[in-house]
This record gives sequence, C-alpha cells and structure tokens, in this order.
Amino acid sequence: MGSSSVSTHTGLVHWLGLLLVVSLLNIWIQPTTSQVTVYSKTALEGTNVLLYIRHTATNVAGFLWYKGEDTDSNNNIAYLLINTGIHIRGPPGGPARVEDDGSLLLKNVTRKDSGIYTVLVQLQGCQKLIACGRLNVYPIMRVPTLLASNTKVTENKDAVVMTCNTNQNAIEWFFKGKSLTLTERMKLSCDHRNLTIYPVLREDAGDYQCKGFNPMSSAKSAPLVVDVKFE
Ligand SMILES: *[C@@H]1O[C@H](CO)[C@@H](O)[C@H](O)[C@H]1NC(C)=O
Ligand SMILES: *[C@@H]1O[C@H](CO)[C@@H](O)[C@H](O)[C@H]1NC(C)=O
Repeated sequence: MGSSSVSTHTGLVHWLGLLLVVSLLNIWIQPTTSQVTVYSKTALEGTNVLLYIRHTATNVAGFLWYKGEDTDSNNNIAYLLINTGIHIRGPPGGPARVEDDGSLLLKNVTRKDSGIYTVLVQLQGCQKLIACGRLNVYPIMRVPTLLASNTKVTENKDAVVMTCNTNQNAIEWFFKGKSLTLTERMKLSCDHRNLTIYPVLREDAGDYQCKGFNPMSSAKSAPLVVDVKFE
C-alpha cells in the first residue's frame, strides 16, 4: 500500500479542510439565477437553420421566439408552451417551429431571414429569461461571369469596361492571377461590379477575373483576355 496523507491525523485534517473548500467553491460557482444563451449562426439561403439555445432552468413553462429585439406579441414567430407535460406549439401556420429543447427551426431560409432573434423563456411562476442571437443568411454562390465592352482594343485610344455578374455583394478583381492593383487609369463603380480602364495601355493586356465572396464561400469567374494593339 502506498503512503497516504489521509492516514495521518494532520493529513486527515488537511484533507477534510480541502473537502470543505471544494464544497464551498461548488456552492459559490452554482449560478444563483437561471440563464439562457442563443447561439448566433451563419447559413446559406435555401437551407433549414436551427438556432440553438442553452439554458439552466428546470421549470420551463414555455419558449417564445421573436424576430427582432422586442418581445412584442406582433414580433412573435413561434412558441412552445409546456403544461404538465403537454406541448402546445404555435402560432398555427407560423413561419418557424420551436423544438422540444427550445431551439428555433427556420425552414428554407432567405436573406430576409437575416437579423436578430430573441427568445423568452417563461418559467413557472413569473420569472422570465431573455436572450438574443443573430442569424446571417448568405446567397448560394454562383460562379460569376465576366464580360467586357471590347476585348480587342488600341493603346492610348480605347477604353475597356468589364462587368462582373455575380449574386454576391462582395467582389474582388484579379489581373494575371493576382489581386488587381488599381492604377489612376482604372475606375471601379461604387458596387465594384464594373471596372473601367481608360485610356488602355499595353501593360493592361492579359487576363482578368473577378471573384464573388461572402463569409461562407467564394467563386472566381473564368479568365477574360484583353488584347491591346500598339504601334
Ligand atoms: C424554398 O423557398 C424558395 C423561395 O424562397 C422556393 O422557391 C422553394 O421551392 C422552397 N423550397 C422548399 C423545399 O420549400
Ligand atoms: C456597369 O456597367 C453596366 C454595363 O455597361 C451598366 O449597365 C451598369 O449601369 C453599370 N453599373 C454601374 C454601377 O456603373
């Protein structure tokens, strides 16, 4: 048998003291009130999204979900009431469903479903817990197409206007495979979809691409080659 500090008298005292400290710590780290957390989420358009919640309450009487930050009945999109084990869901024909654990299921989401969602956990008695989280919905990536006003141009005479057709809001441009550095002869439209080069010079000849991206994915167009004739 190995020696044990518990076998001596002072060791036992220390051990009991440690036990006391541990149990006191346990009491102190117990949450004094119940809490609820909503987990924010990023999703693609057309998918089903579950907004998870976690809570410490044991006496839940209902979960009510709201679009936005206000727990105003006009904003209520789904609820689950629990009464002596019976689950009542609503509102009838509503856009979402509350799962048994209080999480919110949104089916076939669109960009319009992006925003803040608030849950109100009604406890038995009058206590309520409230928390909110954010859902960001992004469009499914389609490969952008890049078109030009003219791909055979003359140095110091012509302009080139390239248009990036993409369903994304964020766009990046590439020249010969590298991120494009704008010169003073280049102009991007405010939405970054149109790149104008005027006047075009021989150094602008080469292949151009544009990339659409969002926080979930990205896609690059096929290269578009611009030829520049010069004397
Ligand atoms: C999802 O919603 C889109 C319109 O937003 C609709 O065209 C499509 O049929 C829906 N898909 C399903 C599986 O309900
Ligand atoms: C971009 O170019 C296209 C085609 O030339 C034009 O229809 C569109 O208005 C332009 N957009 C902007 C923001 O300049």
